[in-house]
Amino acid sequence: MQYKNLGRSGLKVSQLSFGAWVTFGNQLDVKEAKALLQCCRDNGVNFFDNAEVYANGRAEEIMGQAMRELGWRRSDVVVSTKIFWGGAGPNDKGLSRKHIVEGTKASLKRLDMEYVDVLYCHRPDALTPIEETVRAMNWVIDHGWALYWGTSEWSAQQITEAWGVADRLDLVGPVVEQPEYNLLSRHKVESEYLPLYNNYGLGLTTWSPLASGVLTGKYTKDNIPPDSRFALENYKNLANRSLVDDVLKKVNRLKPIADELGVPLSQLAIAWCASNPNVSSVITGATKESQDALFKLILYSMSSQSTSSEADGASLAKSKIQENMKAIDVIPKLTPDVLEKIDAIVQTKPKRAESYR
Ligand SMILES: NC(=O)c1ccc[n+]([C@@H]2O[C@H](COP(=O)([O-])OP(=O)(O)OC[C@H]3O[C@@H](n4cnc5c(N)ncnc54)[C@H](OP(=O)(O)O)[C@@H]3O)[C@@H](O)[C@H]2O)c1
Repeated sequence: MQYKNLGRSGLKVSQLSFGAWVTFGNQLDVKEAKALLQCCRDNGVNFFDNAEVYANGRAEEIMGQAMRELGWRRSDVVVSTKIFWGGAGPNDKGLSRKHIVEGTKASLKRLDMEYVDVLYCHRPDALTPIEETVRAMNWVIDHGWALYWGTSEWSAQQITEAWGVADRLDLVGPVVEQPEYNLLSRHKVESEYLPLYNNYGLGLTTWSPLASGVLTGKYTKDNIPPDSRFALENYKNLANRSLVDDVLKKVNRLKPIADELGVPLSQLAIAWCASNPNVSSVITGATKESQDALFKLILYSMSSQSTSSEADGASLAKSKIQENMKAIDVIPKLTPDVLEKIDAIVQTKPKRAESYR
């Protein structure tokens, strides 16, 4: 595993990281989470991502408890969480000073940690002045609750404005942005944010490298594996938006490229994200693959006495993570020729700006 600086900051994050969205609290509880987190650590991952909204806070509780029970040294890992959607009340969401301070406090309590390494503003808040948010994030840092702060899915304009405020007030600006980035979604990372990498030393921790599993090739319109994300009731809308003919055709056409390289499509897709030099870390997510695996996981969680089923369940839980982490070895295989073939299929490479000269 390589460790890259998070943008211009001194913080080192593993090139591949692991996040808790959907999985922790919806598909997994503490026992399974421990097996997955330890597998990540065994593969060199040091960065773990969360958010106050994931499973309504349960994902933070699971991650915190799992890390505690695993006995990890806090300084060995980089833990992030995100603030924006904290509840139903008018002051439980957004990026006001009130919600940033109260939301962060509540997240730390759930994580049972004194601080997070990186605190993100999960979305931009059109109803709060950016100056209020920049000041509040600095307050949180000054109180030791977070070491760095960043944004998620902000526009280049909003990030530039945040840096303008920070520079004017001699405060700390956002060191990192967390955008979606995968073979199907590239505009922000490859076009809109281009000036920010040099101007502000912005780092990126990117999400959904597999487009929620679509880029593994396991989905067709008629086949949604019963234990997969798109089979979950709350994610039917995402499934409907994602499993469209154009996308599925592209995924099918990518498969022969992965075959030629002798790697699973999932590894090709993750390696492709990690190969972008502006990406500090690719946040992966994984549970298990087959129903059989899920069944064995349930058995595992019920039989904490039995060493053999424990080992069995843990190894099943680990298999997807191990597969995904091997993506690191695929990066050198992405030659200009291979990248060109990929671009011709996905047709998502942003066009270069027109020259009027
Ligand atoms: N900032 C934001 O707004 C934002 C938004 C989304 C995510 N994120 C972060 O990014 C992290 C990763 O996002 P993501 O979970 O959407 O990543 P992803 O890699 O696009 O999708 C992960 C899902 O794909 C399936 N999968 C993973 N590896 C597989 C493999 N080798 N073979 C078959 N299926 C596989 C698994 O789901 P099933 O097995 O259940 O199908 C897994 O949970 C999140 O946990 C979160 O920390 C941030």
